[in-house]
Amino acid sequence: MISIPEFALVALVGISGSGKSTFAERHFAGSVLSADHFRYLVAGDENDQTASSDAFDSLYHVADKRLAARRMTVIDATNVQQHARTAVLTAAKKQHALPVAIVLDVDEDICWERTQARPDRSFGRPVLKRQRRDLRRAIRTLAKEGFRRVFVLSSPEEIDAATVTLEP
Ligand code: CTP
Ligand code: MG
Repeated sequence: MISIPEFALVALVGISGSGKSTFAERHFAGSVLSADHFRYLVAGDENDQTASSDAFDSLYHVADKRLAARRMTVIDATNVQQHARTAVLTAAKKQHALPVAIVLDVDEDICWERTQARPDRSFGRPVLKRQRRDLRRAIRTLAKEGFRRVFVLSSPEEIDAATVTLEP
């Protein structure tokens, strides 16, 4: 069971195809800021990686507004790179929200299969491999970086079975 304080900034952490957006909608509908969605808003294309910087600026602007109003917020992005997680921690600190990480650690082969089945994803396997390598490193350092609660779900079964409760 995943138990998190009501006033948290939650980073989903997982490679492409691990099921972050599916998980976010299932457990956190109405509280999710998705990097893909912000790429779409600023560039009209959720896959336009050249729009990432503007997309994240915008996303964190909105995150700050939400947190200032004490609305729990979930960041749906891979968050496998340390600089991405630093942005999460900085945003949480500014508004005194509890930074939480939920890791979706799904086998790369499964993620690759899912990705290939998607018309809206076109990157190659090396991208996934790189994300996977970054994820391994992230899992070891999340707590040290400052995430106050770290949950690691290690298979699609564990992800399916997970429940989320908010602590008042
Ligand atoms: N999917 C699935 N079974 C699950 C979870 C997801 O078949 N238990 C499928 C989804 O329907 C989707 C794909 O796998 O087609 C990727 O899931 P998604 O939640 O979109 O993964 P993300 O981690 O959000 O991927 P990305 O980083 O590319 O946005
Ligand atoms: Mg997604």
